[in-house]
Amino acid sequence: MTKRSVSTEVKRNDGRAKHGNTPRHVAIIMDGNGRWAEKHGLPRISGHEEGAKAVRAVLRAAKEAGVKYLTLYAFSVENWSRPKSEIDGLMRLLRRFVQKNEDDLHKNQIRLRIIGRTEDLPEAVQQDLAGAMERTAHYSDSQLILALSYGGRAEITDAARRMAARVKAGELEPGDITESAFAEHLYAPDIPDPDLMIRTSGEYRLSNFLLWQLSYAEFYVTDVLWPDFREADFQKAMKAYAERERRFGDVR
Ligand code: FPP
Repeated sequence: MTKRSVSTEVKRNDGRAKHGNTPRHVAIIMDGNGRWAEKHGLPRISGHEEGAKAVRAVLRAAKEAGVKYLTLYAFSVENWSRPKSEIDGLMRLLRRFVQKNEDDLHKNQIRLRIIGRTEDLPEAVQQDLAGAMERTAHYSDSQLILALSYGGRAEITDAARRMAARVKAGELEPGDITESAFAEHLYAPDIPDPDLMIRTSGEYRLSNFLLWQLSYAEFYVTDVLWPDFREADFQKAMKAYAERERRFGDVR
């Protein structure tokens, strides 16, 4: 048996190219809104508002580039500890974003998905999101996934809890818990793992984002603050990705 034919349990994205292609799935940590606001002498919420413009620009650029899945870290489980006024402002902004951009989602045939502990979101936000998700559920070409009240450890814990309940109910044996069976219990198991993770504002941290799914992702960090991030910045990240060689733990 040659080294390459040894089977491995590591879940790979089908058809994932090792280099040179457009990433099928891009995940973004949209960081630097607060610093942008401070730099401009504005309240923090202005940074988030300008950040929403960057979201629209990136949505266009991703569609243009042929990226099929775009996951944005919009609100983490840790963000609940921010001042109430900032949380309320972010929730208002989120509702406004969904209301204002649903037409564009339809025009571009983009399906909206949410991952995270969405039950923790205010009722009105949950309702708006549920409506937009339902109305775009039939689009299969491109997806916008918003991570809301999301934490990578929370997601893994939730998956473990669901599996444990199934073992207790006699539906699964402990020996059935393989990597791929576990992945089936994550929030959106049908979505392939991200190929590229972009983080803005120059921080080299994962911040509890997609801990399971980013195992083999390429990372791209830029000093640009999220509210300043536009199509050209996204295209730079695409170019950098195209020059990477992905080996997935294999040899050349
Ligand atoms: C991190 O910047 C950003 C957030 C916690 C929120 C991200 C939200 C948006 C971009 C708003 C719009 C999003 C959607 C989907 C409508 P930070 O506040 O931690 O910045 P700092 O590190 O400079 O303080």
